[in-house]
This record gives sequence, C-alpha cells and structure tokens, in this order.
Amino acid sequence: MTEWAVEARGLTRYFDKKTAVDNLTLQVAEGEFYGFLGPNGAGKSTTINMLVGLLRPSAGQCLITGIDMWANPLAAKKRLGVLPDGNNLYQRLSAREFVRFSGVMYGLPKQDAAQRTEELLDLLDLTDDADKLIVDYSHGMRKKTALAAAIVHNPRVLFLDEPFEGIDAISGRVIRDVLRRLRERGATIFFTSHILEVVERLCSRVGVIADGRLVAEGSMDELRTQAEHGADATLEDVFLRAVGAADETSTEGRLSWLGNP
Ligand SMILES: Nc1ncnc2c1ncn2[C@@H]1O[C@H](COP(=O)(O)OP(=O)(O)OP(=O)(O)O)[C@@H](O)[C@H]1O
Ligand SMILES: [Mg+2]
Repeated sequence: MTEWAVEARGLTRYFDKKTAVDNLTLQVAEGEFYGFLGPNGAGKSTTINMLVGLLRPSAGQCLITGIDMWANPLAAKKRLGVLPDGNNLYQRLSAREFVRFSGVMYGLPKQDAAQRTEELLDLLDLTDDADKLIVDYSHGMRKKTALAAAIVHNPRVLFLDEPFEGIDAISGRVIRDVLRRLRERGATIFFTSHILEVVERLCSRVGVIADGRLVAEGSMDELRTQAEHGADATLEDVFLRAVGAADETSTEGRLSWLGNP
C-alpha cells in the first residue's frame, strides 16, 4: 500500500451548526507540491489546522506520512513544518530568538539552529530587525519570521496557509525559490493561496474546496481538460467554474449607489 505524505479520511468539523469541513478525503503523495484553493470561508484553514494537530476534528482521520495525527501527535508533528493562518507568534520574543527556539524545539542542536536562523534571517531580509520584538513587527515581517520558523528544521511535510499574503515582491520571489528548493530535496508542500498565478506556477496538483467539500482535484492539465475552455483554460476559469461562481462575479445591476455604467 502506498504511504501518503498527507492523508485526510472523512475529515469533518462542525462549529455549532455550521459544517466548515464536510467529509473531506484527500491524499498527497510524497514530494508533491499541492495547492489547496477555495473561496473565503470554504474551509481551507480549518482543514489545515486539523491536519497539523491544531484543531480537533469532529470526525475523520488525519495521517502524516502514515502516522495518525490525533492518535500519535508527537510523532506526527516531528515530521511537520507549519505556517498557520494568522500571526500567533510569541510576541515577546525577537525574530532571532523565535526561529532559534523553533529549531531547537524540533530537535536541532543549538549551534545548528543558530546558524540556520542567521541564514534564514539574511535570506528573508530580516537581519537588521532580528533583535526587535515580534510585537513591533509589520505584518509581512511577522509572516516571514513564521515562515523561517516553519522551515528551519527542514521538515518532510510543510503546510503553509497563505504564505504570500502581505509579502512584498522581493521576498515573494525568495520564498518561491526556497519552496522550490525544499521540494527538490524531497519535501512535500501543502499550501493555500488566493494568488492563482503563483499556484499555477508552483503546484504539481491542485485541490479546490467549496463549502467544506472537495469539488475539483488534479494536475493543471487534468483540470484544464475538465473545464469548458479546454486547453486554453486558465486556473481562474477552472476555479470559478469548480466553485460555481462563474456567473456570480458580474457587478452589473448591483451596488445601485454606484450608478449604471
Ligand atoms: N473558530 C471558529 N469558530 C466558528 N466558526 C469558525 C471558526 N473557524 C472557522 N469558522 C468557520 O468555518 C468556515 C471555514 O473557515 P476557514 O477559516 O476554514 O475558511 P478559509 O477557506 O480558510 O477562508 P479564507 O480564504 O478566508 O482564509 C467559515 O464559515 C468560518 O466562519
Ligand atoms: Mg484561511
């Protein structure tokens, strides 16, 4: 039997009466770069949070390299790097302290953690501010710090929830390169982004979620052939069709106070 890097089996999460994730089953093979797309509120972050052990599922199973996350969380988490949604960092640490701390927590010897931290801070253009407290950082600086902390231990499976959101073009390019290199070294990457161009450029496979359910999945070529526009379809065409929003994006006849064109 194949062992998947990431596997969700019937994953479900309720918030009161709302079903945020609805019986979701998906598999990601080792070494894949998997893009997880969906409209705002579709259930992407909820899915990731369950897969990485931050949010308990209402039902279903999460397996990381074959290890059940909720039955054996420590062993599963050792294989992971996570950039969660939001900015829940230790605000009273500096970036340098936080990235080193993450490295050591994941089992790196202190010296290695320190050296890798310096290299990451330099690459992400954080060195000048590395001793400032995270609480005083800008949004993008926090995100880059969180990213450095997620990859410092060279994880086998990396989860990134909107890594490019709020990131400038220079760091965006650096991050894309780093992700490519991690993948070349065999890491599996599972990431969400609303920037379809980035997804198209990086991902070997894409899954689309709407209302908590997986509504399309495949390589870019497979998704294109499923779309109306055939081989010319962009990821945006595929996406809008899959989530049933292709006819909903027109603003004509809406926002009466803006007048008619
Ligand atoms: N802690 C929570 N309590 C109550 N409802 C929640 C909670 N977290 C998420 N939800 C609900 O679950 C649904 C899915 O939210 P989720 O954050 O997973 O969406 P998303 O796909 O990540 O969206 P976005 O693209 O905006 O980040 C939404 O309806 C949201 O309101
Ligand atoms: Mg989200």
